[in-house]
Amino acid sequence: MNFKIFGAVVFALTTLMLNPAWAQDAPEVDRTSTGGAQTLEDIMARQKQLEVDESFRSENTGDPANAAPISEQLGTLGGRSQADSWRGVRYNEIDLSTEVSGPAVDVLIQDGGMPWYQLREGPVITYGGGAILGFVLLLVVFYFIRGKIRIDGGPSGTKIERFKAIERFGHWLLAGSFIALALTGLITLMGRSFLIPVIGQEAFSTLAVGSKWLHNNIAWAFMLGLVMTFVMWVAHNIPNKLDWQWLKAGGGIFTNSHPSSKKFNAGQKIVFWTVMILGLSVSLSGLSLLFPFEMPMFAGTFEVMNSILGTDFPTALAPHEEMQYANLWHSIIAFAMMVAIIAHIYIGTVGMEGAFDAMGNGQVDLEWARQHHDLWVEERLGKQDKGESS
Ligand code: HEM
Repeated sequence: MNFKIFGAVVFALTTLMLNPAWAQDAPEVDRTSTGGAQTLEDIMARQKQLEVDESFRSENTGDPANAAPISEQLGTLGGRSQADSWRGVRYNEIDLSTEVSGPAVDVLIQDGGMPWYQLREGPVITYGGGAILGFVLLLVVFYFIRGKIRIDGGPSGTKIERFKAIERFGHWLLAGSFIALALTGLITLMGRSFLIPVIGQEAFSTLAVGSKWLHNNIAWAFMLGLVMTFVMWVAHNIPNKLDWQWLKAGGGIFTNSHPSSKKFNAGQKIVFWTVMILGLSVSLSGLSLLFPFEMPMFAGTFEVMNSILGTDFPTALAPHEEMQYANLWHSIIAFAMMVAIIAHIYIGTVGMEGAFDAMGNGQVDLEWARQHHDLWVEERLGKQDKGESS
């Protein structure tokens, strides 16, 4: 059920990204009245976010071989006409080499700004926020239908160690930093729309600056938590045949049965790999945002995708475009992760009796452990008899 909803959200977002309303073509324009220069219709079409074929301007930026250097006076008497020069500026065809250097200095005008801003303020907020609210609602409904998953026959009173202190430290470092990043990220993304009307601009300004600072710095704790949990738990999360049995039985959620499982069942392995893969992706795109223009990743990724999948993603991206892609990707992945984590938090707290103790004090009830992780208990008790630790 969770995955159907998750799939629907991903599908809706992908459809929106790949087939946006603003990608509709503008109608053909007759430019004889302007001698080939742009017309009012072109300008109006751009304002309506229609896709205008700009080649009549972008391929008309003068003859560089016959051009006067940019430092010389511009004008009809120079090597280029002013119109040529301005078109050159508009399409980044002009050589702006000066003493000022940096990865983005020679881009004076970049036209991805509006579509990026509209995507960010529109679909990303609407579908991302909607997915979170929808999912919380779904879990509330699920709770009322299924109720708390209880320990059959009640707790035994005997405890068994499930997670060592270092494992719990790694988990809470990851969890605490993720929750802080999610909250500060949401404030940064949605605050303008939802908080300014409530708390006003002055207060929001302070909050936004603080959120941004926290978000930038807490990111390191998240990455450390991600690496720690990966190293400690990856060996227990390799998929095996048992997982298939567990999934076929739906984890026993509706049948009140307890399919066999080792330390982590298939549901937990899905959580683990979702956190690891999305966590890595959100970290890489976050680093790219943290060090503007220093870590462009999308042109290279698109190139690989085009060669493997035969897609046609753009591979020549302006530095600003790289940042725009990184920003959108970062938000989309973060939302997907938040939705997955809400389900995880549900099952670790109100959803299942006895689960929280595993990460609370590390000791779980033996009966809980037998019902949810029978093979792990056998292994642990076997090792204890031999005096080993796991
Ligand atoms: C209040 C928030 C959270 C609670 C109450 C919670 C609770 C738990 C519990 C009880 C377990 C152990 C389950 C078991 O004994 O088998 C666990 C495991 C785990 N947690 Fe959390 N967690 C929280 C937030 C997070 C966050 C934010 C992340 C990642 C960003 C995360 C990632 C994981 C992973 C990867 C595991 C191992 C796989 C699994 O058991 O599903 N947790 N958590």
